[in-house]
Amino acid sequence: MALRPLLSEEQIRKRVLEMGAQIDADYPDGKLFLICILKGACYFLADLSRAIKRDAQVDFMGISSYGRGKTSSGEVKVTKDLDISLEGADVLIVEDIIDSGVTLNYLTGLLKQRKPKSIRIAALLDKPERRLRPVDVAYVGFRIPDEFVVGYGLDYAEKYRNLRDICILEPE
Ligand code: IMP
Ligand code: MG
Repeated sequence: MALRPLLSEEQIRKRVLEMGAQIDADYPDGKLFLICILKGACYFLADLSRAIKRDAQVDFMGISSYGRGKTSSGEVKVTKDLDISLEGADVLIVEDIIDSGVTLNYLTGLLKQRKPKSIRIAALLDKPERRLRPVDVAYVGFRIPDEFVVGYGLDYAEKYRNLRDICILEPE
């Protein structure tokens, strides 16, 4: 496998700062919960939460819709639930990438049942061409073509998450 650079550490850093500023400008005072979807989004959450200047709490949710390969199994499973109640809170789901939309379509439906005041999605990457289920994304870092990418939290069979840049993974 070969790695072809797509987004540099510096490009990601700048964009995440912009997203944080936008979120600060958009949200009224009150409880803001950032819900990080494990494991891929934890790098993005760490940077985005610090780009946000208003008060915000973080919590983590484990969801899996992918096996070890590159294609979605189509099944969504909650592997770790939240520790906090969402009732009355502004909820921002923080996700690394939206591909088919299966994961987030399912997750927003699930979290809406918990009576949050509002629920939105912030995704670092979006591959709109791949969408199978509709997903309403409020904040998108970068729209990217239909390529498999790794780094900055994104993995291929648990590898490459700790790369600083985002790269396209290609067969040699
Ligand atoms: P969806 O349910 O198809 O939208 O898939 C979303 C999940 O699939 C993401 O949270 C990632 O874990 C994984 N995924 C989708 N595309 C990629 C990719 O290009 N690289 C790494 N993981 C990906
Ligand atoms: Mg993920």
